[in-house]
Amino acid sequence: MDLDISEKRKIVKKKLRRLEGLPTLPPIVQRLNKLIENEETSLNQIAELIEKDQVITSKILRLANSAFYGFPKRISTVQNALMFLGVNIIKILIITSSIFDIIYKEDVKLWEHSVGVATCARILAEKLEIKDPQEVATAGLLHDLGKIIEKVSFKEEYKKIEELVQDGKSPLLAEKEIFGLDHAEIGAFLMRIWNLPDRLIEAVEAHHELEKAKDFKKESALIHLANVLIHARGYGDSLYNKVPPLEQKALKLLNFNLLEIREVFLKLEPKLYELKFFTEELRKDI
Ligand SMILES: [Fe+2]
Ligand SMILES: [Fe+2]
Repeated sequence: MDLDISEKRKIVKKKLRRLEGLPTLPPIVQRLNKLIENEETSLNQIAELIEKDQVITSKILRLANSAFYGFPKRISTVQNALMFLGVNIIKILIITSSIFDIIYKEDVKLWEHSVGVATCARILAEKLEIKDPQEVATAGLLHDLGKIIEKVSFKEEYKKIEELVQDGKSPLLAEKEIFGLDHAEIGAFLMRIWNLPDRLIEAVEAHHELEKAKDFKKESALIHLANVLIHARGYGDSLYNKVPPLEQKALKLLNFNLLEIREVFLKLEPKLYELKFFTEELRKDI
């Protein structure tokens, strides 16, 4: 018997809530959340907690010094990283690094696509003077989180989606048919469970359907545009290899014209080149 869409949604959400078979978050994230909730917590206390975990500490420092964040000064301690990047980004780094450990092994191309979108998002955010470009970049890094979850934790369903796409169905419709949700909704759903900032959640949720954005329309339009540009440039692969359609509304929202894209690409090229090395290096560690 075929289940209707709302039944499918319920089942998938239940599974997501229990995180069955999903990449689990390191326990440090829970403790970090608790510390951050308390307004009296100092940066030192947060740094102390993180430093207890050697693996995570080295990942944070490596990311902070990588081409991805590329600060002019070397960041050598967790305290420095907290000061430069902020607590939210550190939390997100911890979450992403644990998710992406799985992804390197499963799908390096999707990782490349994600860092590509993040880099492009940061360039756009800086150019358009949008607040906290690093945080917007992180939304780029996580925008296809739902695809990872589909691939790793819903293997059978994922195969069916691939078949539907091969038969010519649009990836988003295929996902909705199988799960009742698409990857943008799945990613956002998990990010909510993990208590990530609303700004990031909304940008991820709306990156294919801008009308879903309410409070963070610009950020959503920006991730939408960055995703289209990276597909068009061809960097990594996001499992469905067609360039997604560009919504004109995104350009309007950002007050951005197509002529300016050339300028963005000029800035993007050397960054993508550096990122290749970064990805290679990370791959060696696994
Ligand atoms: Fe996507
Ligand atoms: Fe994407």
